Formats: sequence, structure tokens, C-alpha cells
Amino acid sequence: MAIQLVTTAAELRDASARLLSHKQGRSQGLVPTMGALHEGHATLARTAVEQNDVVVASIFVNPLQFGDAVDLDRYPRTLDADVALLEEQGVDLVFAPSVDEVYPGGEPQVRVTAGALGEKWEGASRPGHFDGALTVVAKLLHYGTPGAGLPPSGAFVSGGGGGLPSYRAYFGQKDAQQLALVRRMVADLNFPVDIVAVPTVRSGDGLALSSRNRFLSEEQREAALVLSRALRLVEERAEAHEPLDPDSVRAMVASQPLVELDYFDVVDPRTLEPLAENCRKVPFRGEGLAIIAARVGPVRLIDNVPLSS
Ligand code: PAF
Repeated sequence: MAIQLVTTAAELRDASARLLSHKQGRSQGLVPTMGALHEGHATLARTAVEQNDVVVASIFVNPLQFGDAVDLDRYPRTLDADVALLEEQGVDLVFAPSVDEVYPGGEPQVRVTAGALGEKWEGASRPGHFDGALTVVAKLLHYGTPGAGLPPSGAFVSGGGGGLPSYRAYFGQKDAQQLALVRRMVADLNFPVDIVAVPTVRSGDGLALSSRNRFLSEEQREAALVLSRALRLVEERAEAHEPLDPDSVRAMVASQPLVELDYFDVVDPRTLEPLAENCRKVPFRGEGLAIIAARVGPVRLIDNVPLSS
């Protein structure tokens, strides 16, 4: 069946209910995106298609999560190419609402607050970013709820033993802080959805895929590879049960003149608090997340790698 493009919440509800009923679907997956899709998003979509009977992808450039109007304006909008990419992955429905559809009364007065977890790392240099991102994710999770538009007669046959179909939403590991915050929001506010993390996709040279990479010159892109090299070094040290020695990693990144390091650290994957000294000077054991952010030319890049030893 050809992919369907809808732009209102009412159309999304109807189309999702029709598809679930038609496919006798037991599960629905939601892939929230801001468009400008690349292979990383394609992997999210493919994973959702493998795991669900009906898959909805949303494309919405959310003004609430941009601190800077210039950044919002220059965010790439490539709807036709995005829909084609999603169709290739087997996505059923694309939800591409307008700003008025999502925020009919203008900017919402009541928002989700990310709290202390949203103020560190990325939050420190992008104040309010995670409140804006979580607010729209909360709305998108509501819009994408399966069966929300099912007729009271219940034409739909549920696979969940009589209840509504199961519901999963897909987020990239690349945005580790966003992922940790979405998990917290869903747990703290009892959203009936399973959050599925999908590993970061990298180009052959190691650079994590990002919609912003297109703004890097060739020279800047080459310089940016120091981020993934730094993470790989820490990963190798963890695998070898060696001390991670974050200071030496920071020095390695700082030696690249085109790269302005914002932070590098090894943190607890759930709380994002830096791990105790024990990972620094003595062999690393346990679970961790190495996180890095840097400005390269016009672009702020983030990357991370889960560590387990
Ligand atoms: O990761 C993104 O693309 C965005 O932050 C999201 C989750 C779609 C919310 O706007």
C-alpha cells in the first residue's frame, strides 16, 4: 500500500484507525523526526517497520526547541525527499502538521519541564531546548497513539488480548540526552508507550550522521572526525579494562585547531552524572556513556558511545 501523507491530527487518527483495522494490526510504531532525513532516520523507520504492524513517522520542525530564529529558519526542509525515503522503508503514514496545527493558540503556556537533567550538557548551551523538545514529543506521542480514532463499535481486532494495540516510539541513541529525558518523561508521567533506542548510524569514516553535517566544508568535516576517533579510543580502553583517562581524550580533541570542544565526559547513561573517579585512574568496570560536543565551523556536533566492561 502506498504511503499516506496527512497534515492534521484528525486525519492521522482516522488513517491510523483504518490501517490498524485493515491490517488487523496489533501494534503501532511512531518515529518522530524533524525531517531532513538521512540513513540514521531510515534505520529508525526500518526498525519500527520490523517491530510493528502500522508505522507512523512525523515530520515537524518544532519552533519551541530552537533558541535562535536563524537556526530555525535555516533548518533544512526536504518534505518530498523525506516522504520518498520513508516510503522505501515501508512506513505507512507520514504526519507533517503545520505549526498552527500543533500550536493552534500560539506558543503553549503549559509545557513539559525537563528539570535538572535538561539543564546540563546540551541544555547548558541551549537553554529551554529540552523543555521545547519534550513538549512536542509529549504531543506527538498523543497524536500517534494507536486506536485513538477507532470507532466505538470496535471494528478493529486487537492482538493484545482484548486491549488497544501495543505502542512503541523510536529515538536515536545519537541524541543520548534527549533519549534519557524522553524515557524519564514517559516513566514520570505514565505515558503508555515503550521507548525504543536505535543505535547511532555512522558514515564509513566514523562521523555520526546528522542533518547538520551538510553545513560542514570538506576541511571541517575532516576535522570533525576527531570526535568519533576520541570516542573510539575510550571504547577501546573500556574494552581493554584500562583507565579511561578523559583528560587525555580532551587533549586529543583540543589539538585539532578547527574543533572547539564544549565537553567530553563519561557519565551514567540514565542520570548523565559524571562517573566517579574510578573510571579515570583505575580500570573501567560497569556501564557508562562517553559523551562529546564540539563546534566545528558553523555547526555544533554531538556524539556518544555506550560503554560496557
Ligand atoms: O530528535 C529530533 O528530531 C527532535 O528533537 C524530535 C524528537 C523529533 C522532537 O522535535
